[in-house]
Order: sequence, then C-alpha cells, then structure tokens
Amino acid sequence: MRVVEVTAYGGPEVLRMARRPEPEAGDVPGRVRVRLKAAAVNQADLKIRSGRFAAGLGDLAPPFVLGYDFAGRLLDPAPGLPEGTRVAGFVPWVAEGTGEGTYAEVIRADPTWLAPIPDDVDFTTAASVPLSSLTAAQAIDLLDLPAGASVLITGAGGVLGRFAVQHASAAGYRVAAVAGDESDVHLLGAEVVIPRGAPEEVITGVLGFAPERVDGVFDAALIGDSLLPAVKDGGAFVSASGERVPIAERDITVRVVVGHPDSARLKGMLEKIDSRELATRMADVLPLEEAAEAHRRAEAGHRPGRIVLMI
Ligand SMILES: NC(=O)c1ccc[n+]([C@@H]2O[C@H](COP(=O)([O-])OP(=O)(O)OC[C@H]3O[C@@H](n4cnc5c(N)ncnc54)[C@H](OP(=O)(O)O)[C@@H]3O)[C@@H](O)[C@H]2O)c1
Repeated sequence: MRVVEVTAYGGPEVLRMARRPEPEAGDVPGRVRVRLKAAAVNQADLKIRSGRFAAGLGDLAPPFVLGYDFAGRLLDPAPGLPEGTRVAGFVPWVAEGTGEGTYAEVIRADPTWLAPIPDDVDFTTAASVPLSSLTAAQAIDLLDLPAGASVLITGAGGVLGRFAVQHASAAGYRVAAVAGDESDVHLLGAEVVIPRGAPEEVITGVLGFAPERVDGVFDAALIGDSLLPAVKDGGAFVSASGERVPIAERDITVRVVVGHPDSARLKGMLEKIDSRELATRMADVLPLEEAAEAHRRAEAGHRPGRIVLMI
C-alpha cells in the first residue's frame, strides 16, 4: 500500500511516498482495518516531522508514518459497525508507539477510536473533525467551571480554537475569543471577539468583557504566562500544549490538555456536523502524494481551516 513516510527529521521535503505491506485481517488482535479516504494535516504532524518533538517520541524514530485524523471505510467488522461502514477517528500513534499514522491507504484501528460518519457528511469533512474537536471539548471539560462562567479562548481563528468556542458556548459559558480574523467567530458563539495583539491589548480587551477578569482560559494559541493576569484568583488555565505552560499563581489551576479518542462523543460531533449545529472548516484538500506541499502550506500559517489529504 502507499504511505507517506517521514524519512528523517527536517522540512517538508523529508516526506516521501513509500510502499509498505498492507495490514492483514486479524494480524493485530483486537484491531480492525480501515481503508482510508482522507487524513488531516495537524500542527502536531509539522512539529513531529521537524524533530521538535523528537524527545517526546520515546523509541520512535524515522522512518515513520505521520497523521492522526482519518476517515474511510471499515475493511473488517467492528462491534456495532459492519464491514463497509464509513468511519472517522484519530489514531494516538505516538502514545501507541507504532509509528503508523494515517498518511496511508490502510490503517489498523482500535474499535474504541471509531465513530460512524453520517451519510451526508463527506470523508474530507469528517477527517477534519476528530483530533481537534475532541481535544477542544476535553480542554473545556478540564476548565471544570460552572455554566455561566466567563472563558477566554485564544487562537479562536484556528481549528482547535474554533471548535473550543463552539463547545464552550454550547456548555453555557460566556466566551471571549482572541482571533486575528474575526469574520465568523461571533457566529460560532463568542460573545466578544478580541483582536489578536500584544498581551496588554488582549488583557485590556478581557477587562472590557469581564471587569473582574475571566474564570478560565483555554490557550489554543500557546501564548502562555502573559495571559495569567486575565484570570481571576482561583480560576482555571488550560494550555493546548506542554510547550507553553504558565507557572501557576494566585491559586489558578493550570493544566495541559492531551486529546484522547472518545468514539461516543465523536459520533455526536459528526451528527452535529451533519445537522449544521457544529461547524468545521477546511483550508485545502490535496492528494496524499502532495503531503509535502500540504505541510508547506500549513507551515506558512494563516490558513483558515484544516488541510486534508485525499487518499
Ligand atoms: N494537546 C492536544 O492534544 C492538541 C490537539 C490538537 C492541537 N493541539 C495544538 O493546539 C495548537 C493549535 O492547533 P490548531 O490545529 O488550531 O492550529 P491552527 O489551526 O494553526 O491555529 C492556531 C491559531 O493560533 C493563532 N495564533 C498563533 N499565534 C498567536 C498569537 N501569538 N496570538 C494569538 N493567536 C495566535 C493562529 O493565527 P494565524 O493563523 O493568524 O497565525 C491560528 O489562528 C497547536 O499548537 C497544536 O499543536 C494540541
């Protein structure tokens, strides 16, 4: 089967098409095979490819196959999901230590990673959802605040931030969103959109929204320490990455979200994509062969949405 391998740490040029043996039915007990139609390009893929995360990969080293998100068709039956079912999910391939991500024609999946895709949702749309939407929802859970609490979400123009705004608003929080492009963040449920700027400008924006400061922050843009003055004493701060975690002060609880698969929750999210209650956004759809170009575009930044590879 065709895969895209990271041949060595480096720039997008280290991504190469390669051939690997296709998994066989039952070759790994408990896993089912999925023939992929789409895989999304996440920020983590860029960081892993560049070598920036090498220390966190344990025994994994190139060559390996990148990619978390996928959408495709089951080649084997899974509990409650017959062979042929259209499914999406994400592969926690670093935690699993397999080096077998989703830039591939066929993957092995744990059935607990899979959710069925509603008929009217296409594969590329479905592949843009799992890692980002689940991580955003899990980050909002980690804030652990009562309904009506005020929450600041940074990177709200990005994929994770856009989902976080929607989940926080659906959970009953009052949301202030920091976004460079505020075109539609209001429509996603943000009460206030604070333009991206210097930390002191963002804090001024926060005080206009919540004069006593906010109860919680989800920092999807990895701004870090300079946002702490925006949080009330005893509030909550969740970072999207261990790369940028403030040192706790004034009894503020600081946590890092690590997205994990949750098939039941993902099923509900894909149903909401279908019913237009949840919005996703794709920047580009490119063939698998153009994974290097997809990484170049993602790395250039300011892409409004997920880049998805068609397989
Ligand atoms: N912990 C987990 O399990 C997990 C899961 C998914 C993602 N993540 C991490 O979450 C982060 C966001 O991911 P993503 O997929 O949403 O990426 P993305 O789509 O590229 O979005 C990042 C957003 O942050 C904005 N931004 C960057 N620097 C900023 C700054 N200094 N001030 C304000 N906004 C800023 C960007 O704006 P511009 O586009 O204008 O640059 C962009 O809108 C990444 O670091 C990713 O690795 C973690």
